[in-house]
Amino acid sequence: MSEEKKTSAVDLKEIANLCKRRGFVFQDSEIYGGIGSVWDYGPLGVELKKNLKELWWKRMVYDRSDIEGLDAAILMNPNVWKASGHVGSFADLMVDCKECKKRFRVDKIEGKVCPECKGALTEPRSFNLMFKTQVGSVEGQAIDVYLRPETAQGIFVNFANVLVSSRKKPPFGVAQIGKSFRNEITTGNFTFRCREFEQMELEFFVKPGDDEKWYEYWVNERFNWWISLGIRKENLRLREHAKDELAHYAKRCHDIEFMFPMGWSELEGIANRTDYDLKKHSEISGADLSFFDEATKERYMPYVIEPSGGVDRGVLAVLVDGYRSEQVKDKERVYLALDYRLAPIKVAVLPLLKNRPEIVEMAHKLRDDIRGSYRVVYDDTAAIGRLYRRQDEIGTPFCVTVDVDSLTDGKVTVRNRDTMQQERVEASRVKEMLAPKLCM
Ligand code: GAP
Repeated sequence: MSEEKKTSAVDLKEIANLCKRRGFVFQDSEIYGGIGSVWDYGPLGVELKKNLKELWWKRMVYDRSDIEGLDAAILMNPNVWKASGHVGSFADLMVDCKECKKRFRVDKIEGKVCPECKGALTEPRSFNLMFKTQVGSVEGQAIDVYLRPETAQGIFVNFANVLVSSRKKPPFGVAQIGKSFRNEITTGNFTFRCREFEQMELEFFVKPGDDEKWYEYWVNERFNWWISLGIRKENLRLREHAKDELAHYAKRCHDIEFMFPMGWSELEGIANRTDYDLKKHSEISGADLSFFDEATKERYMPYVIEPSGGVDRGVLAVLVDGYRSEQVKDKERVYLALDYRLAPIKVAVLPLLKNRPEIVEMAHKLRDDIRGSYRVVYDDTAAIGRLYRRQDEIGTPFCVTVDVDSLTDGKVTVRNRDTMQQERVEASRVKEMLAPKLCM
């Protein structure tokens, strides 16, 4: 292809429009006017999200021998959150505008008046971010519980269970992917800051004194993982937290930041949580969570290195990074240059003429032959140019077209999303030809 290519800058609105139009992300309960900062993943979004989580799980659990998986519940004994410090200090300092009644985070506004209407502001007040609900059906006996604001605590309270049942000893880790909930005040920016979101968290338990070494290891490992997904290096950077920015449990923390359309923002945090959590849970629950090393006869409270990434922010980052717009023969072509492993649909089978039964039959057969290991779709609802553009826009790596010649020579056209180059291939060889390219 010799067409000249010009790339445009990405706008968050364009991404949100594409997500809705093509079925990646919808506003939650939209027909009722929605609910702020809660999103639903559509047919393509659910595939993309699943692929991202599977790649994380593979790297963290399947490719190593020192990490076990866990799926702890969202509801926990409320004492967990007292011990972890979330009841006391998981709060933002907020001010309300006395005129327009809007609420703002103190650290997100400049000056002493309302950023929207210039009205006077109240004194700052602390606002806890945890959602409260009740457990129990007997009136007056129900207890207040919280929707977890991080998955991490489910790992800490199961530390001894995993240690004993999997016969591990530090250094070792426990990985978990799951929903977390925060009553965020500063919202907007599409799915960047949600009230219901998913985290991919690892708590890696090490001997005190080895923590700095493992901290450096995980900062590098996690940065490299995002690069391995095909995100361009210039869109990623590491930023260390200043002392006054550190969470109450952290000795050090690095953010992996991505160049989102609204600027550099956090994609994942890697923290040295010291022995804060295991110590607190030991103190408050009365269970001894220290580790006894039989070999050295030493007892110690393990330190924890925690890489904590956001699934929703990861999905948004790969969409923003992959979004490409270029001029092809004076027409705009939009395509998503997603890593093939992340692409929601791997192959689209397209008949050139939908009113020729032999072509349709051959295309159906081809679709049935190649599906099984990955998602394959058949589409005949528009002319071929339109069908290609549609698949480009959702990041489908390969389109396979059946045409009139296919009926006599048994060959089909395989088109690559990124280069738009086309190759004639025996229909019976398409599956084996695509498998290594799709890492299947
Ligand atoms: N256990 C540590 C912890 O939760 P965090 O920095 O508050 O640390 C970790 O969150 C990651 O979770 C963030 O880097 C981000 O990707 C994701 N995250 C946090 N709050 C979020 C929100 N409101 N919406 C979407 N993702 C969020």
